[in-house]
Amino acid sequence: MFLTVGFLVLSPMVMAQGKDLHEASCLQCHASLTGGKPTSLYTRADRKVTTLASLQQRVKGCAIAADANWTDAERESVVQYLRTAFYGF
Ligand code: HEC
Repeated sequence: MFLTVGFLVLSPMVMAQGKDLHEASCLQCHASLTGGKPTSLYTRADRKVTTLASLQQRVKGCAIAADANWTDAERESVVQYLRTAFYGF
């Protein structure tokens, strides 16, 4: 569906890792911002992130807010997860 052929080989592992990391570090604060619907931040009509570059920037900034000590690869897996699951670019 939304996965390109080149990404297909990597994606199940990367996506699962990104989802786990996101759940561990990101959901709670977003849930408190949204009255318990954390992922609605990514799908609302006036969402702030509209490009891959701005998503990478935002994840970087929010990872600092979350005090998540991620490697570049871990952070990138969260970017890939959010991109594929919610943003669709
Ligand atoms: C301490 C609170 C906090 C934590 C923890 C946090 N965020 Fe956020 N996040 C925010 C706030 C505040 C916004 C901006 C909401 C707005 O613009 O209305 C935001 C927005 C975002 C957006 C942009 C949504 C849009 O409008 O498109 C992304 C992407 C995002 N966060 C990713 C993450 C990720 C990934 C993590 C985990 C590392 C994380 N956030 C952890 C507070 C947090």
